[in-house]
Amino acid sequence: MKITKDIKYIGVNDRDIDLFEGQYVVENGMAYNSYVISDDKIAVMDTVDERFGEQWLENLKAALLGRTPDYLVVQHMEPDHSANIVSFLKAYPGAKVVASAKAFAMMEQFFGRSFSDCSIVVKEGDTLSLGNHTLNFIAAPMVHWPEVIVTYDSTDKVLFSADGFGKFGALDADEDWACEARRYYFGIVGKYGAQVQTLLKKAAALDIKIIAPLHGPVLSENLGYYLGLYNTWSSYMPESEGVMIAYTSVYGHTKKAAELLKAELEALGCKKVVISDLAREDMAEAVEDAFRYDTLVLATTTYNADIFPFMREFINHLTERNFQKRRVGLIENGSWAPTAAKIMRKMFENSKELEFAETTVQIKSALSKQSREQISALAGELLKK
Ligand code: FEO
Repeated sequence: MKITKDIKYIGVNDRDIDLFEGQYVVENGMAYNSYVISDDKIAVMDTVDERFGEQWLENLKAALLGRTPDYLVVQHMEPDHSANIVSFLKAYPGAKVVASAKAFAMMEQFFGRSFSDCSIVVKEGDTLSLGNHTLNFIAAPMVHWPEVIVTYDSTDKVLFSADGFGKFGALDADEDWACEARRYYFGIVGKYGAQVQTLLKKAAALDIKIIAPLHGPVLSENLGYYLGLYNTWSSYMPESEGVMIAYTSVYGHTKKAAELLKAELEALGCKKVVISDLAREDMAEAVEDAFRYDTLVLATTTYNADIFPFMREFINHLTERNFQKRRVGLIENGSWAPTAAKIMRKMFENSKELEFAETTVQIKSALSKQSREQISALAGELLKK
């Protein structure tokens, strides 16, 4: 696959993987992208997951048309991209590895050997000329690990964006970009919004025609759309108006409360209400929706003098990703000593700019006249501008 006259795609699709990074369900697989820039000198941009080493080396060989690569640029040391550095060097012993100082330290840890005989250490602002093409290195710490650099080819105006602008899904998956890019972003990079903002500011100074990430499709049209979404996500602003109701339910009573709230909100004209059973739905999808909409309602039971485990896990996912700038409503259920609302609220005590609804719904075992009225009051309150 040609990206530009001189840049070819040599990545692979992984349709065998069950959990990406050991936790994310990827029903449509995953792509590990890698590229070759052929000029007077030849640079290879990153490698792929270990299980696809042979296939990747074959793709590389075919793209080289009998030539030999001069450089392997390692932008990110996470093994989904870096597992084949040593096999690359075995195949092409004269090549140099180009990476940040932190990446070389990790490389030694991962491979248990020194790379000092073949390393070129680069940092923010350094360049590497391939002849006609010049690679400009830009530090992108914590997008997604501390050693990350991204690379701008100022000749073809291509930003090699490492994990940035990636998505779940193999390249042949027929699915919406934003849906799986958002779940990927909040799952993987969501905690590091400030660092993504820093990178976006650096990117704004560049004339970018193509974004070539390490996962997901190469982006070459309507780049403002993708950059705009990344700006929204990394600044923690809601992307859409709407209410997400996340619940856990043991015997169905809390579920009924969540469904009643959904119906009340819709009856009042709320155009978008999504509801998620945290015990059954994909947690990463639920996290994505919490960050997508401007309002979140949490409904759970008191359990072991705490809250139901799936809700605790969900709130932990949100707070560790700096959940903020949202309206929040709480529904608690308890048969003898309901404390879930208090516990949920305390879990957000360090979160910024959360506006809690005045009405907290309290269910004692099952819905009652009083708790139904509280749900109506909460629905009305959440839709007030
Ligand atoms: Fe795709 Fe952070 O590795």
